Amino acid sequence: MTEQELVLFYQDLHRHPELGLEEFRTTERVKQELRRHGVAMLDTGLATGVIAEIRGEKPGRTIGLRCDMDALPITEETGLPYASCEKGKMHACGHDFHTACMLGAALMLKERQDSLAGAVRVVFQPAEETVDGAAQMMATGLLSDVEEFYGIHSYPYFEAGTLGIKEGPVMAASDRFAVTIRGRGAHAAQPNKGVDPIPALAALVQSVQTVVSRNVDPFDNAVVTVAHVEAGNTYNVIPTEAYLEGTARTLNPDTRELVRRRLERICESVAAAYDCGIDFEYERGPDAVINDAALCEAARETARETGLKTEIQENTMGAEDFSEFLKACPGVFIRVGTGGGYPGHHPRYTCDPAALWPAARFFASLARKRAAIIK
Ligand code: NI
Repeated sequence: MTEQELVLFYQDLHRHPELGLEEFRTTERVKQELRRHGVAMLDTGLATGVIAEIRGEKPGRTIGLRCDMDALPITEETGLPYASCEKGKMHACGHDFHTACMLGAALMLKERQDSLAGAVRVVFQPAEETVDGAAQMMATGLLSDVEEFYGIHSYPYFEAGTLGIKEGPVMAASDRFAVTIRGRGAHAAQPNKGVDPIPALAALVQSVQTVVSRNVDPFDNAVVTVAHVEAGNTYNVIPTEAYLEGTARTLNPDTRELVRRRLERICESVAAAYDCGIDFEYERGPDAVINDAALCEAARETARETGLKTEIQENTMGAEDFSEFLKACPGVFIRVGTGGGYPGHHPRYTCDPAALWPAARFFASLARKRAAIIK
């Protein structure tokens, strides 16, 4: 496959975005290209997603390359000639770019398979946005022998030709909390006849702000955001219930547990102070993504060899289910500069196609080098 063909492949995916677990066409397009080039695929038994394998004849290790394939429920406003044909769906997070890049890497590895030591599994995962996909791929059991994983994400604040490689935490653990405050309904003119859950809700929104400001170590990082509140539906009725939900983001497991514990305690205590009952729900999402320092160094070296610049990307408390793969072995989540400047999930998000081929070459040569290392 030539660079121009890879760019066309990317643009084709961009035109036809599919939401999480509906990536049927994208899966088929990836399989077509892999088949056409004689790349082996493992049987995942899943409706969407692909695992390709390029196995060398010489002994070595198994290295994983991972990308995601799903799009977002956003209406595109880029005005690109290859803009989305699907109303209300858009590749606004570059997963089309990731898929094309890792396809390119797979085909480059295939081209030089005779001199490959070890094996490379290229994982095209579904449903990253809904954080179902990574766990599904791991649950196939087909990746248990992978010794290092490398993940890709496009990055609008670096131009094509620059990679963001940073050791330590690069994406946060992302949890969801939801609280239902139970009072007793009444006429708005007779609050004394009921238990109004709204003052309790207001107090709760204020009180949970102290978790980060008063409980978390100031040298650590955490976010508590209440993003959704609901109570009542008219001006003269005290409702029976009030509801809030939000997200807690942390970088280390102890802080994660501290935040959960404090949130629960504050919610229960504040509700009790207002004579309300409470249901507190806490749902753990993906873990933080922690990049391995030694592997970051290896990735930087490969970047230099393939003519790419490296920089340190900005910190973020965003989340990524790439951490599912890192539960099993070390790895690096690498940012690929794709220009454009609009943040991910914006209707004008774009990826510079010029970044595609060099990034594919980088991932292919990184995987190749790491697979050949026998410890
Ligand atoms: Ni993304």
